[in-house]
Amino acid sequence: MSNKRSKISVIGAGFVGSTCAHWAASKELGDVVLIDINGDMAKGKALDLYEASPVEGFDSKIEGGSDYSLTANSDVVIITAGLPRKPGMSRDDLLSTNAKIVKECATQAAKYSPNSVLIVVSNPLDAMCHVAYKASGFPRERVLGMAGILDGARFRSFIALELGVSVEDIQAFCFGGHGDTMVPMPRYVSVGGIPLEQLLSKEKINAIVERTRKGGGEIVNLLKTGSAYYAPAASAVQMAEAIIRDKKRLLPCAVLLQGEYGIRDLFCGVLAKIGSKGLEGVPLLQLNIEEKAMFEKSAAAVKELVEAMAKLGV
Ligand code: NAI
Ligand code: 2OP
Repeated sequence: MSNKRSKISVIGAGFVGSTCAHWAASKELGDVVLIDINGDMAKGKALDLYEASPVEGFDSKIEGGSDYSLTANSDVVIITAGLPRKPGMSRDDLLSTNAKIVKECATQAAKYSPNSVLIVVSNPLDAMCHVAYKASGFPRERVLGMAGILDGARFRSFIALELGVSVEDIQAFCFGGHGDTMVPMPRYVSVGGIPLEQLLSKEKINAIVERTRKGGGEIVNLLKTGSAYYAPAASAVQMAEAIIRDKKRLLPCAVLLQGEYGIRDLFCGVLAKIGSKGLEGVPLLQLNIEEKAMFEKSAAAVKELVEAMAKLGV
């Protein structure tokens, strides 16, 4: 990595976007730009966050507004613009509105930062990755979706609660699309190196898997006016950190599959190697018959959304 100061732009300065800016700045990942159609709001949040830096002791230039020229030459662009899910609304209801928003954001981001890596957060996640991929014209290595880290973090949190052990000792991830068909992978969970099956009954594991699948809805039902943002933003910033610090991390992310797991031309969540080039590899896991069937069902649900977007002309 060069010594050049890195730059992260976050499009959409709402709950997820502003929390991403907060985590990114406080980790000193680089300079941060917040963009929103409501430019003054983005500018105000950026200034407020910058004014926290003398107290917290982080050195990041933080700017905000609605003009994409502020984002020029970003290393990473996180797209969070769009409408969040309201109670009773599925992620898929957001399809056509958010597709138009994400198309505009990805087009502008690519114009001003042609060498950046895009991290899509807007929902429905996997479908929005397709929109950003098409609009940016970037190779698959530089268009990633954030969902698996969040779903995995929920899985890890619930296991830690159940076992009364540190979240730090739990490795767990989810495959598939970010929706009700997501595929938590209990067979690959490690609790300080011990397989989960040795510590919890099948019934307990199934209950945790179910709570993980519905984890986003659980927060929506409690918040009533929006959806989760602390854990989603932390997850997106973990991806940004892996890119900016060239960490070569193995993280569950939505990537454009090109034949891996028998799936082609579809964004779907898998374990991916993430470094300065963005996607640097897709290590293939051995899936058993049940996992393979659930993964294929989840991929089919993503495909349905992509086809629905094509029919809607978005
Ligand atoms: P929010 O409503 O707080 O923020 C969205 C922001 O986007 C607003 O400030 C709005 O003004 C802005 N916006 C709308 N159109 C825009 C445009 N054309 N250009 C620039 N900015 C624009 O919503 P929140 O809670 O921040 O969620 C953002 C998105 O992230 C939603 O689609 C939500 O469903 C999704 N999400 C995805 C997660 C995942 O795991 N992938 C997790 C959590 C949220
Ligand atoms: C979540 O899982 C809303 O997709 C978002 O919290």
